[in-house]
Amino acid sequence: MKVTGGLIVSLLPALSQCAAIDRRQNGDGPQGGADATQGDLGARPPPRFPFPVIEFPTAKETVVLNETMYIQPGQVFDGQMKRYERAEGSCNEQAEGTDADTVFNLLPGSTIRNVIIGKHQAEGIHALGDAWVENVWWEDVCEDALTSKGLNTQLRVIGGGARNATDKIFQDNSLGGKFNITGFYAETFGTFYQSCGNCLNQAKRNVTIQNVIAINGTRMGIINPNYGDEYRLKDSQIKDLTRMVDKEIGNNVQTVPYTVGTGPDEKYALYNESRDAITAFEGEVLNQYTPEEPYEWLSEFWTGGA
Ligand SMILES: *[C@@H]1O[C@H](CO)[C@@H](O)[C@H](O)[C@H]1NC(C)=O
Ligand SMILES: *[C@@H]1O[C@H](CO)[C@@H](O)[C@H](O)[C@H]1NC(C)=O
Ligand SMILES: *[C@@H]1O[C@H](CO)[C@@H](O)[C@H](O)[C@H]1NC(C)=O
Ligand SMILES: *[C@@H]1O[C@H](CO)[C@@H](O)[C@H](O)[C@H]1NC(C)=O
Ligand SMILES: *[C@@H]1O[C@H](CO)[C@@H](O)[C@H](O)[C@H]1NC(C)=O
Ligand SMILES: *[C@@H]1O[C@H](CO)[C@@H](O)[C@H](O)[C@H]1NC(C)=O
Repeated sequence: MKVTGGLIVSLLPALSQCAAIDRRQNGDGPQGGADATQGDLGARPPPRFPFPVIEFPTAKETVVLNETMYIQPGQVFDGQMKRYERAEGSCNEQAEGTDADTVFNLLPGSTIRNVIIGKHQAEGIHALGDAWVENVWWEDVCEDALTSKGLNTQLRVIGGGARNATDKIFQDNSLGGKFNITGFYAETFGTFYQSCGNCLNQAKRNVTIQNVIAINGTRMGIINPNYGDEYRLKDSQIKDLTRMVDKEIGNNVQTVPYTVGTGPDEKYALYNESRDAITAFEGEVLNQYTPEEPYEWLSEFWTGGA
């Protein structure tokens, strides 16, 4: 669903909430100048899980939540590869969920790690400000897996995967935000990344996608060149994809955006299959990151022994 009346109600509270929070001093300006993502990641210890991994983990335990779990600023929530779902969770692909429908909401400066989001959840994760999403797996995506909201929100996704996303996996509804997606595995999806085409507040969004494996999808992206979106894709393996990046004229009046083109260019859809090593996936993961100190318990969740 692209036209989503629920956005009005769900975006505005997040915007006002986030506007009150100080931006990091080393962060991007309103339109994204310097690259805060790299600086922040440099300060973090190396990931303790491999990526990309093309087999889904099998949870041993399911945690049923009666309400959305909020991850607090500064908190690192480690789900230990348990499956999380909402007690009343159900998928309605026709409706854009609100922050009350999610399994997790991420507050600015939080990290969620080693989590499996169960099937039939109305909404997966909403990030209400800058956050890290590490080794998170979606077993069956409903409307969106991960939605970015708020002002200039920067998300870093490392590892993990999603399957069966009829519509989208990553949805950027932020005002001028940035996504960095590394080492993710996508299997059966509509759109891998979408910059909101008809949110009430629109600005340039910026996404960098690298070292992902994407199989059986409609497209790797939808962006709005009229707002100056930038989309980068590199070092990735793709199979059974209908098309790469669609460019639409987005709007802020909640009407249906219209497509003006598909494929790379020099300003918005910034990828080149040969230069950027975008290749056909042939069953072998080419650039897998293997941690020096993996979590000891991690391999128990991959029956095939990842
Ligand atoms: C978008 O992100 C890329 C990668 O971080 C960065 O090089 C580029 O300068 C950003 N663009 C803008 C307009 O901020
Ligand atoms: C994105 O995140 C990856 C993984 O942490 C990092 O290596 C890369 O430098 C980041 N890219 C940008 C443009 O910030
Ligand atoms: C969720 O609600 C059920 C039924 O009211 C209750 O039995 C259960 O303890 C609750 N779970 C949590 C985690 O609060
Ligand atoms: C994929 O989604 C469809 C429609 O929501 C559902 O019927 C089907 O069971 C899902 N398949 C898997 C493997 O999750
Ligand atoms: C590929 O995606 C389509 C939906 O677009 C789905 O019906 C089909 O089952 C998927 N194929 C495989 C092998 O998963
Ligand atoms: C892509 O990159 C290759 C190698 O750098 C170059 O020869 C080619 O012209 C580029 N294609 C486009 C469409 O820019």
